[in-house]
Amino acid sequence: MDNIVIFGAPGSGKGTYSTALVKEFGYNHISTGDVLRAEIKAGTKLGKIVKGYIDQGQLIPDEHMIDILAGVYDSMLDGPGVIFDGFPRTIVQAKALKDMLQERGEKITITINLNVSEDVLMERLLRRAKIEGRADDNEETIKKRFKVYYNQTYPLIEWFKNEGVLSEFTFKGDTNLIIKEIIEKVASL
Ligand code: AP5
Ligand code: MG
Repeated sequence: MDNIVIFGAPGSGKGTYSTALVKEFGYNHISTGDVLRAEIKAGTKLGKIVKGYIDQGQLIPDEHMIDILAGVYDSMLDGPGVIFDGFPRTIVQAKALKDMLQERGEKITITINLNVSEDVLMERLLRRAKIEGRADDNEETIKKRFKVYYNQTYPLIEWFKNEGVLSEFTFKGDTNLIIKEIIEKVASL
């Protein structure tokens, strides 16, 4: 089974390219952001806890995320693979993911790291704000999310490199081309 981590700053295309990979390879897709937003929408206890963090552009405490993840992953074990979109985001989460996979005889197959310049990221998210109205898509919160990403999540690149699973993709202005590059890479695994 393929276990694919899709990694990058807010707006880098994690969700967009996950959708392309699901279509191409029939993978299951775990977007921790989508899972959390669904909890908020459903008004669950967890949703009430996490809302404040998301609205402030801050990460949800690791213990909540790790519990949620294992439950969702176990419901996807009979498919061709799973895409992790938005997880891990801290070293603690990365280690927890490694342990969780190991306990199930699995490992991270590849980490797709998406490199996109910050002005393009901001432009995409402000455009999305007008269409989807996500609570964290306003200029002030987007800036906080960038900061959280560079302080807490970006350092994970070194961790993935040490695990020997890092693969880099840089957006150069052509969406179709980067999707093609990612699909070719995954097809070659
Ligand atoms: P999450 O929902 O994961 O948000 P994010 O990381 O900020 O990323 P986005 O979903 O905004 O962007 P994306 O990379 O998916 O890009 P997309 O494809 O949409 O997390 C939200 C919050 O939840 C976090 O801040 C945190 O509070 C919490 N959380 C989630 N996971 C957590 C965890 N593990 N631990 C703790 N807390 C956690 O693309 C962006 C837009 O650009 C789209 O509208 C797209 O259509 C458009 N676009 C235009 N051109 C392109 C192109 N060429 N490529 C890609 N997209 C393009
Ligand atoms: Mg997303």
